[in-house]
Amino acid sequence: MNIRRLILKDFRNYAHLDLEPAGGLNLLAGANAQGKTNLLESILFLAVFRSPRAGREAELIRWGQEEAQAAAVIGRGETTGRLEVRLRHDGPKAILWNGSPQRPQEALGLLTAVSFFPDDLDLVKGAPAGRRRLLDVLLCQADGLYRRHLVRLQRVLKHRNVQLKGLQGMPRAAALLEVWNEQLVAEAVPITVRRARAVRRLGEWAAAIHGRITGGRERLELVYRPFFAGDSGPAQAEWEDPAAVRERFQEELRRRQGEEMARGVSLVGPQRDDVRFLIDGADARSFASQGQQRTAVLAVKLAELEFLREETAEYPVLLLDDVLSELDASRRAYLLEVVADTVQTFVTTAHLEPLPASLRERARIFHVQAGTVRPA
Ligand SMILES: Nc1ncnc2c1ncn2[C@@H]1O[C@H](COP(=O)(O)OP(=O)(O)O)[C@@H](O)[C@H]1O
Ligand SMILES: [Mg+2]
Repeated sequence: MNIRRLILKDFRNYAHLDLEPAGGLNLLAGANAQGKTNLLESILFLAVFRSPRAGREAELIRWGQEEAQAAAVIGRGETTGRLEVRLRHDGPKAILWNGSPQRPQEALGLLTAVSFFPDDLDLVKGAPAGRRRLLDVLLCQADGLYRRHLVRLQRVLKHRNVQLKGLQGMPRAAALLEVWNEQLVAEAVPITVRRARAVRRLGEWAAAIHGRITGGRERLELVYRPFFAGDSGPAQAEWEDPAAVRERFQEELRRRQGEEMARGVSLVGPQRDDVRFLIDGADARSFASQGQQRTAVLAVKLAELEFLREETAEYPVLLLDDVLSELDASRRAYLLEVVADTVQTFVTTAHLEPLPASLRERARIFHVQAGTVRPA
């Protein structure tokens, strides 16, 4: 899959953009604060209908304007289609595919993307939320049903937390929780099972890629830790079985009910899951050097490409924001070698000069300046 044309209107600092990227490598060069990241953000927004950095969608609308549009002509083999998102200050966003309105869960997967932003370099040692987000962004694109469960889970948790607060200090009120517990389990079990399967497959890809980057000197493993699993516990294969997950979940609900009621907040559920990175069997959170973390993140990002290709039969587009300068020459070369011919890639960089000439020759180069983009 690739983007044949990207059209922005009043999106961030772009009053109007009409870009024809190359099917392979695209280099977006420009000084700070010119709109390089904004451009990648627009592509990611078209893929997942969420921004990684805007708190509110309205931030994406160019200042002083009422409405923003982002559209992409997407090619899959011989066929093309036009995906468009319209944002307004005074209403919900609209998603259109070839001109007809779509709900987000129907439109997910029309364009798929993997992004590597500087914040991702914290993935290994950062908070669990970052690792959950990676799984959610990946799985929402692969599987519309997953997104539906996730949206419902948010709603159930909101209601359940209100209920828990209301029940604080009412020891006999547990029965009132039953309804929300059932709904929590109904959404949480499929999410847990899907995450478990995804982490296993993603981990297999990541381990293979990591082995290639490190020349087989280190072994990377990803281990899914659902909130109820603790630090040791059974092999993760168990979490791929819905019946086993349901049972563990219900047990956990009973075990922690008193604590949940005392604290007035949900302590069980996929909102507390984590993914462990193990290097040669040891937890990378506590010992990995900066270089080891970067290699692990790079391996996972490349694994995401393979995962999505397996799930959707097409490679996603790859968005690399300012990360080339964060990787050393050999990792950078590896990254660009493996993706340049097979995956449509958008790379932002402040400086073109450090990039090898062989690479610059293969890329389509654009200069980004104050919300305008011109081919080199
Ligand atoms: N909604 C908006 N309307 C207009 N300009 C915006 C909006 N949001 C961000 N900007 C501007 O976009 C610029 C940042 O663009 P960005 O893509 O992050 O730069 P960089 O080229 O460094 O990646 C800043 O100058 C910021 O003021
Ligand atoms: Mg930037």
